[in-house]
Amino acid sequence: MPELFIKDYLFTPGPTPVPERVAQAMAAPVILHRGPAFAAILAEIARELRALFATSGTPLVLSGSGTAGMEAAVTSFLAPGDEAIVARAGKFGARFAALCESRGVVARAVEAPFGEAISPAAVGEALARYPAARAVLFQATETSTGVSHPTREIAEEVRRRGDALVIVDGITAVGVYPLPMDEWGLDVVISASQKALMLPPGLALVAASTRAWQRADEVQGGYYLSLRRERAAQEKHQTAFTPAISLLYGLREALRMLGEEGLPKAYARHARLAAAARAGLSALGFSLFAKGPPAPAVTAAAPPAGVDAGALLARLREAYGVTLNGGQDELKGRIIRLGHVGYAGPFDVTTALAALELGLADLSGEAPRGRGVGAALAALRAPG
Ligand SMILES: Cc1ncc(COP(=O)(O)O)c(C=O)c1O
Repeated sequence: MPELFIKDYLFTPGPTPVPERVAQAMAAPVILHRGPAFAAILAEIARELRALFATSGTPLVLSGSGTAGMEAAVTSFLAPGDEAIVARAGKFGARFAALCESRGVVARAVEAPFGEAISPAAVGEALARYPAARAVLFQATETSTGVSHPTREIAEEVRRRGDALVIVDGITAVGVYPLPMDEWGLDVVISASQKALMLPPGLALVAASTRAWQRADEVQGGYYLSLRRERAAQEKHQTAFTPAISLLYGLREALRMLGEEGLPKAYARHARLAAAARAGLSALGFSLFAKGPPAPAVTAAAPPAGVDAGALLARLREAYGVTLNGGQDELKGRIIRLGHVGYAGPFDVTTALAALELGLADLSGEAPRGRGVGAALAALRAPG
């Protein structure tokens, strides 16, 4: 392409683009977080989050990125010396294990090769081997591999086997596809602001069941990340500490936007965009990385033979202003990850694919001429 103005595009599975409406809301003057106006904002947020998490409890808002939510859960619901079963099938599973270890919790791994889903049967076997485990921790979607673990089935297996808590990292799942925590018996569900909630990074969300709160009363863990302390405040529409006030303005607006779209439509949109991304990438000769159920939030794929993933991503960024993610840790250089989560529509997917077509042509000399974009458009138009 001739030298043109370069506009920046962000197609990563977090951070994700922030809608103008949300950005405007966050620009409002900061108010006192101990006054009635702020309490009204928190009350509206709590009401909408109950619908989003499908729970009768009050989901809590914490200042910090998603990992703060994971650490708050580990610290609040597990005590040093406890045993826990931790799913390891990607980078974020490994993070849960590391957080457990930093808390003095013995993490027993249930593993799947990267790209595959954790099987409920393997979780059952782990629970049979370690019957004292107090919790099972896993990702609803493992963002590093683009695979969704079978949350409902894993929760059923845990329930059948005893009273371990089901602790779910739903950071790239909440708002992307249904994860009704009360109905499925999930004890703890964690999310974060920079994914389906269309906000900048900086907020973590944690919802918990009655059983989990009973456990938290026994454990009494944490100070800044004590969910018990935060719950006591947020049930009165206060926060324990000074909150990220501007992000909470944004959260209220983003929840209004999701309410206007309707959650079923938001779920269908993510599923449709993911199908289009898979169709487009496959048509361009990428190999889809997910062997288990592919995630509706992010598609991971290995480039065609002879094309280096890192070089391709650098070319997209530098020549076309288009940012996608690469692989993390051992997947670095092997895959690309295209995010289609949050404030994402059909032309985000086609724009990313158009840039990939150009990038592939630049690197390999082979010009795919609309094959990826065409396949994505066909998938978007397909009935269903
Ligand atoms: C599934 C999952 N868990 C945890 C995290 C960590 O969240 P953060 O980077 O916001 O701390 C992420 C972030 O990408 C994620 O996708």
